[in-house]
Amino acid sequence: MNSKQQIVDALVHVLPATMTPEQIEIKIERPKDSDNGDYAFPTFFLAKELHKAPQMIAQELLPQIDQSNFEKVVVAGPYINFFLDKVQVGAAILGEVLADPKNYGSSDLGHGGNVPIDMSSPNIAKPMSMGHLRSTVIGNSLANILSKVNYNPIKINHLGDWGTQFGKLMAAYKMWGSEEEVKADPINTLQKYYVRFHQEDKGNPALDDDARAWFKKLEDGDEEATHLWEWFRSESLKLFMKIYDVLGIEFDSFNGEAFYNDKMDEVVQMLEDKHLLQESKGAEIVDLEKYDLNPALIKKTDGATLYITRDLAAAIYRQRTYNFVQSLYVVGNEQQNHFKQLKAVLKEMGFDWSDNIHHVPFGLITQGGRKLSTREGRIILLENVLNDAIDLARKQIDEKNPDLPQADEVAKSVGVGAVVFHDLKNERLNNFDFDLAEVVRFEGETGPYVQYAHARAESILRKASQPDLSNVDKSISDPNAWEVVKALGQYQDIIQRAAREYEPSVVAKYAIQLAKDFNQYYAHSKILVEDDEKMARLALVQAVSDVLKSALALLGVKAPDEM
Ligand code: ARG
Repeated sequence: MNSKQQIVDALVHVLPATMTPEQIEIKIERPKDSDNGDYAFPTFFLAKELHKAPQMIAQELLPQIDQSNFEKVVVAGPYINFFLDKVQVGAAILGEVLADPKNYGSSDLGHGGNVPIDMSSPNIAKPMSMGHLRSTVIGNSLANILSKVNYNPIKINHLGDWGTQFGKLMAAYKMWGSEEEVKADPINTLQKYYVRFHQEDKGNPALDDDARAWFKKLEDGDEEATHLWEWFRSESLKLFMKIYDVLGIEFDSFNGEAFYNDKMDEVVQMLEDKHLLQESKGAEIVDLEKYDLNPALIKKTDGATLYITRDLAAAIYRQRTYNFVQSLYVVGNEQQNHFKQLKAVLKEMGFDWSDNIHHVPFGLITQGGRKLSTREGRIILLENVLNDAIDLARKQIDEKNPDLPQADEVAKSVGVGAVVFHDLKNERLNNFDFDLAEVVRFEGETGPYVQYAHARAESILRKASQPDLSNVDKSISDPNAWEVVKALGQYQDIIQRAAREYEPSVVAKYAIQLAKDFNQYYAHSKILVEDDEKMARLALVQAVSDVLKSALALLGVKAPDEM
């Protein structure tokens, strides 16, 4: 039940008949300070019509309002303040959660509209970095959140599987490579060749020419070049898939940059037809001065296409294929400019749907306050991070609960969940520090803390032998329960806010708060004592378990029943 509706019902009979329930509803406010009630109705706007001072109107309306459904209704100056009947509202909220736990919190903001989400998108022949982890988990969580408000997300892994770097890689492989070496440890070996190429390349233009020639061969469909490319790609993809598997994340499409290879001529043609292409030192550019942006480089002097050319083709392809209502790109903040250029070029091409393209940027992960960079070799390999997190979780579980069944499985959910949760609880644009011991702690604002609150709720329900709660009276008079119930009632609003702001941290912070509220309640009130309200309390515990599990699922984090 919607408690705002209760206020509307109480007011509609006492206000002038010219006011519809909808008009009343928009006027209702939520006071910042709970001393002023749960909802407030201001009377200013009636002054003109009623020829009276607002304070007076409030005073006169008060005695006419049916107060039986509220704890109290009071007048404060020009406001009528409503205090909800906590017991009644609480019972209604618990009833709503338990009636359909899977769908609790859902709504229909999106009307089923398609939303492609460009996410993860690591580069072939390079290790997947912590930045790609951020894109993967933020994108996945946004997909879950958007689908909960009834959008249809399409998760696209725009693999970096094309570009001049493949020319360099092939040139390097042909010079120093060995098949066995690559097979034994594909990404590290390829990475090594690439780094060596860059070292030897300094002051040796012949190497660059060689690389350019190899990329040209690839773009022209040369057999050897294509074969090498396919091999590098499939070896890399195998390793990426392992990581996605550990994270439990699936994609709807792996159409990466190479997929747009045969779709770029059309883009270049369109740009030409619209007279948007200009020549600049032999290269083809689109001038974006009126957007205060640098020109977009569409074709290099040697005719090779670029990152943005492929992104133009991809944007157009996605519009045609999905007829999207929004198109998201979960990519690091450092590519801000690239996406501004992309939108600007599409706008210049006359595509108004470019307004529905949103870059969803995020900040950096630092370690000891320092930026992690691939170049310096200060790279943390994602796979190692996840494995270390699982080990650390396992140690803590063994201490707390040595007899836990399926401890391996639980350690995986807790370790991986901790890394994912830590990433998502930070507002995505903030940089944040990564300290594994901090991330996997069971206390504090961590994933394991929330998982532990859920497991505690499940353990209480097990002790009570999983009672059937569907028809029990869910009224709880204990005022300690109110904060928990109120938090449960906010779930739908929270999800909608997260969806509007593309901000999973809203859900993560909510999960922490709900877990805290529940732990506080548990510390102060005895749940399993035999009295009239025992079943109602168990209903509360069940509802907390359901909502924590659901919130964690929106983040892509599992909720073990025991840990
Ligand atoms: N592969 C790129 C990188 O690692 C990210 C691609 C993002 N998506 C896109 N459509 N540009 O930097």
